[in-house]
Amino acid sequence: MADGMEYIYHQDSKGFVKLFIYWILISLSGLQILSCPDVCSCHEGLLVCYGKGLYFVPEGMDDDTHTMLLAYNKVTALKTLSFHKYPRLKHLELQNNIISNIDSQAFQHLQNLSYLDLSSNQLTTLKPEVFRPLSRLTTLNLGNNRIVRLPGGVLDHLINLRILYLHNNALPGLRVDVLYKLPVLEQLRLDGNPWVCTCQIQYLLSWMIDNAEKINEKERTLCGVPKYLDQYPVMEIERESFDQCQHFFTLFEYLYFLLIGMALFVMSILLCLLAGSVVVCYERLLLRAQRRPRVYKKKTARKRESITTGHRIPECRM
Ligand SMILES: *[C@@H]1O[C@H](CO)[C@@H](O)[C@H](O)[C@H]1NC(C)=O
Repeated sequence: MADGMEYIYHQDSKGFVKLFIYWILISLSGLQILSCPDVCSCHEGLLVCYGKGLYFVPEGMDDDTHTMLLAYNKVTALKTLSFHKYPRLKHLELQNNIISNIDSQAFQHLQNLSYLDLSSNQLTTLKPEVFRPLSRLTTLNLGNNRIVRLPGGVLDHLINLRILYLHNNALPGLRVDVLYKLPVLEQLRLDGNPWVCTCQIQYLLSWMIDNAEKINEKERTLCGVPKYLDQYPVMEIERESFDQCQHFFTLFEYLYFLLIGMALFVMSILLCLLAGSVVVCYERLLLRAQRRPRVYKKKTARKRESITTGHRIPECRM
């Protein structure tokens, strides 16, 4: 028993010495080994971490990191500080994670990022400023998410964007000015969205027809609404179909005009009432000012009056 204890103790102290030597060696060999997560491989600025069950973007890596391959993990959010230590990052793959939230400052320092893959995540919305720092971005893949709307201005600063994938989302429409602001766009995917092919799509369709060579998967870009156009290719709708849309108002606009009309009606009635009462009050004031003071005459005076009939007493004028 005592021998055993001694043996264990002996082993333990040996292990401790070993650990201590390792620690010194690792410290001497620089921080690069320390900062690469065990499950990943890191080599000269390339981080490879495919399918390792990561919940977060690895921290404390070499700040020379230019490529991060983080697909098939379990990252749920990109935080403000997720990438702030990697200003040299050029290539970032985050496809097939479960990202549902990206802070508006998440890509703040990545002015050299040129490739960003966020496909196959769980994005539903994007903050309008989120891509603002990425003026060198050439490829943006947002396919296979659940995006319901691209906020106005969200792609405004991507002046070098050549490839934009928005396929397999929940977009019912897309403001065409989002596309006008991408001067060097070469490839666009819009398939797999439930496009609403009513008057509201006419400007997007116009752009699509004029830029047909830029659109991939045209025959798979289908209407979802209205019912009679379900699964009909968007680009096969004739431009002339929208001729009657010129003076088309949406229900919302009709309600808006109705409300304005009613408000004006009520206001004009109120104004009439106000003007009427002002006139009446004015008249009354005027009358009151003109009314002569009521004079109560003494009985003796009245008698004298009756005596002096024929002689007029001059009226008192004010
Ligand atoms: C970004 O790229 C440019 C040109 O390649 C380079 O001069 C600059 O140092 C890079 N910036 C960073 C923060 O790495």
